[in-house]
This record gives sequence, structure tokens and C-alpha cells, in this order.
Amino acid sequence: MTTTLCLISDITDPGSKSFQLDVNGEEINIFIVHKDAQFHGFINSCPHTGVNLEWLEDQFLDMDQNFIQCSTHDALFEIDTGHCIYGPCAGDNLTPIQIQVVGNRLITHI
Ligand code: FES
Repeated sequence: MTTTLCLISDITDPGSKSFQLDVNGEEINIFIVHKDAQFHGFINSCPHTGVNLEWLEDQFLDMDQNFIQCSTHDALFEIDTGHCIYGPCAGDNLTPIQIQVVGNRLITHI
């Protein structure tokens, strides 16, 4: 299934945004990070406990905006890979999702 998420201009660089998708009746929470003109998408679930990561709506990045940060126990994840480099789930990974820029739109193939 192809879903248009937003316009690429809807997410600042650096910045992040969450989305709820309905996939065959199942609600899937995802988020997108825009950094250095690249977009990266992940399932919104911390590998430590499974909770959503953001501390405020659409706020997934640490203060320096160099890492994705889990708001519950402060785990840090690389933006381009989702690999956890600090915290209780160090060595684990966020689950990536396939996204694509088509014209001025950001789409996913979930
Ligand atoms: S729930 Fe994310 S680091 Fe503990």
C-alpha cells in the first residue's frame, strides 16, 4: 500500500513528525526525521519497552538534534540507521520503514 504522508516542506530540517497509519484495520504509529536533506522513517516504538519515543508531539530529537532520543529513559539512536548507541537498549535498533520522496511529497509503502 502506498500512502502519502505529507509534503516534504512540512518537516523542518532538522525536524521530525509522527503519523498514524491504518494498515488493514491495524493502527501503525510511525515517525519521520528530516536531517541534512535526508528523510528517515521508523516505527514509533522504543526497543526497550515498546513505548512511543517522543517527549512532545513531533519531538523525537535530542537537544542538539543529532540523535533520536527516547523520552522515557533517554536512549539515543542514530538518525540514519536507528541503531541505539546509548541507554538501556544500546546495541538494539528501531524498526525502519520504507519511505520515498516523490516530487514534493513524502510517501511510504507500508
Ligand atoms: S523506554 Fe525507551 S529507553 Fe526505556
